[in-house]
Amino acid sequence: MIKIAPSILSADFAAMGEAVEQLGRWGADYVHCDVMDGLYVPNITFGQGMVAALKQRTDLPLDVHLMVEAPERHFDSFIDAGADILTFHVEACRHPHRGLQAIRNRKVKSGIVLNPGTPVQALDYLYEEADMILFMSVNPGFGGQAFIPSVIDKIEKAANEIARRNLRVEIEVDGGVNAKNARRLIDAGANVLVAGSAVFLSEDPAKTIKALRSGE
Ligand code: DX5
Ligand code: ZN
Repeated sequence: MIKIAPSILSADFAAMGEAVEQLGRWGADYVHCDVMDGLYVPNITFGQGMVAALKQRTDLPLDVHLMVEAPERHFDSFIDAGADILTFHVEACRHPHRGLQAIRNRKVKSGIVLNPGTPVQALDYLYEEADMILFMSVNPGFGGQAFIPSVIDKIEKAANEIARRNLRVEIEVDGGVNAKNARRLIDAGANVLVAGSAVFLSEDPAKTIKALRSGE
């Protein structure tokens, strides 16, 4: 089943509670929370306090994407705040294998993120520890950027590897996802599509979420 994870980075920051409540009504599957620290990426968004507050406003799983340097410093606090899925960048973490294990040990879904310039081979010794792999299809830091098509090849390779190893790992793709490229991403093997501007700037977000899910 294809899941849609709208990114609240494109929502009104002064009305985040309403935004996550709307996502439930619009038929989203996850709430994608983009945490930025102003160091790993230029912007600063929000932290554990926001995640904890949003947890009170929705039953949807919180898919927390950490764009922070040395993310392992914050795993426990984001899990305590209510993250259901916690993903961090392989490029930002000195011990990604240990990091994935640490998240799983807390009974939360562990996820590793690869930037557009990071080869898929970075995953070779991590597949077994991950519940999710997140492929960035833009360079992290901003919503509304153009989709980078070379991600498709990486998704295909990872999907083959996951099948070959007989694992259950979700493949998520994040950045510039819209109704035009959703079908290609699903066909390549992605099963979770993040969409920020495509959902929140849509005139009919519920319809857009449906269209993304069916790849139309
Ligand atoms: C980028 C974030 C994305 C972003 C996606 O750094 O990780 O989640 O919000 O936004 P769109 O869908 O507008 O590219
Ligand atoms: Zn994201």
